[in-house]
Amino acid sequence: MAEPLLCVRDAEEAAARILPAGIRDFVAGGSEAEVTLAANRAALDAVFLTPRVLGGITACDPAAMLVGCQSALPVAIAPMSYQRMVHPEGELGMARAAREAGIPLTLSMMSSSPLEEAAAVGGTLWQQLYWLRDRGQVTGMIQRAEAAGCRALVLTVDVPRLGRRLRDMRNGFALPPGVTAANLRDEAADLVHRPAVGASGVAVHTNYVFDPSLSWDDVAWLRETTRLPLVLKGILHPDDARRAVEHGATAIVVSNHGGRQLDGAVASAAALPGVCEAVQGRCEVLLDSGIRGGTDVLRALSLGASGVLLGRPALWGLASGGAPGVARVLSLLAEELTEAMHLAGCPDVASARGLCAAGAAPGFLSRETRPQTGQTGR
Ligand code: FNR
Repeated sequence: MAEPLLCVRDAEEAAARILPAGIRDFVAGGSEAEVTLAANRAALDAVFLTPRVLGGITACDPAAMLVGCQSALPVAIAPMSYQRMVHPEGELGMARAAREAGIPLTLSMMSSSPLEEAAAVGGTLWQQLYWLRDRGQVTGMIQRAEAAGCRALVLTVDVPRLGRRLRDMRNGFALPPGVTAANLRDEAADLVHRPAVGASGVAVHTNYVFDPSLSWDDVAWLRETTRLPLVLKGILHPDDARRAVEHGATAIVVSNHGGRQLDGAVASAAALPGVCEAVQGRCEVLLDSGIRGGTDVLRALSLGASGVLLGRPALWGLASGGAPGVARVLSLLAEELTEAMHLAGCPDVASARGLCAAGAAPGFLSRETRPQTGQTGR
């Protein structure tokens, strides 16, 4: 009998048993010494919650509004490229599971299925954008996202070039044949399939097609160009968060790309309180990087996020069993979050704010985010 999946770690292990080593490393790995990858977990583990008791709660409602979209959980799936490399259902399986779970899916610009096919699955879809040297393709993508009924555009701002991912370089990682960037007219497509000693095909391809000069002027252009809500993903500095607000962002994602870009970058959970303090509720703040269970979601909410993006765990679910595998991971997360909310005395997601204990993570909590005397957090 197959082992039951009782936590995200079980899904990770199940995926690791199935995936070829190169793909497993591409998904799991971070950049350079993977210090930031580890710090993401350590920072979340350092957030301790102070439960409220005797609230007479019999049921908890984990529903949330994320970027103007109703969601069954304060969770959306993060954009992740080339999903058909882990399972033949790829992004379409991911879209089916997100639709069934009632949560938004962010489709990567480097998706291995076309945007229109993912949109045809139904559910709430957000389209992620990278900034390509070929600006016509960026414009085309925006128009296609609008036409396909996407509900937001998510511009990733932390990839002027790809981080140095040593696992992929050691593996001479290249994508399997047939797995390509299905949304692009990609003259350089063969680069991702070309194994090389000491180099990652994905990095070579990315650095060839991405425009490293992305700037605030481009964000201003994007804000003018689309009527869709704009999300900036990959913000860590409070000053950048303020500028995002000034540039009309509906939301920002506090993220270090799951430890895959600048190694040594601050852990997302450590950066979150400073960012929340900077934006003062003028835009939504989401968090990603290191979320591995329902308690982590509650931790993020307690620090001021309105929700999280889920990265690798969704891919491990997909690898371990296609859409039903993702569905299992998502239902696990829902179960864990609802139980954690009950144990913490939170009937709804709004009441999670302020659960973070004074002194629980003294290294990074600002005075404003610490619960003040007399503040109940409800
Ligand atoms: C990513 N990520 C990512 N981000 C993005 O904006 N566009 C993309 O195409 C990708 N592709 C991608 C592929 C793979 C295999 C991974 C693991 C990650 C980053 C992703 O959106 C998210 O920021 C992190 O994965 C969050 O961290 P956790 O939850 O994986 O720890």
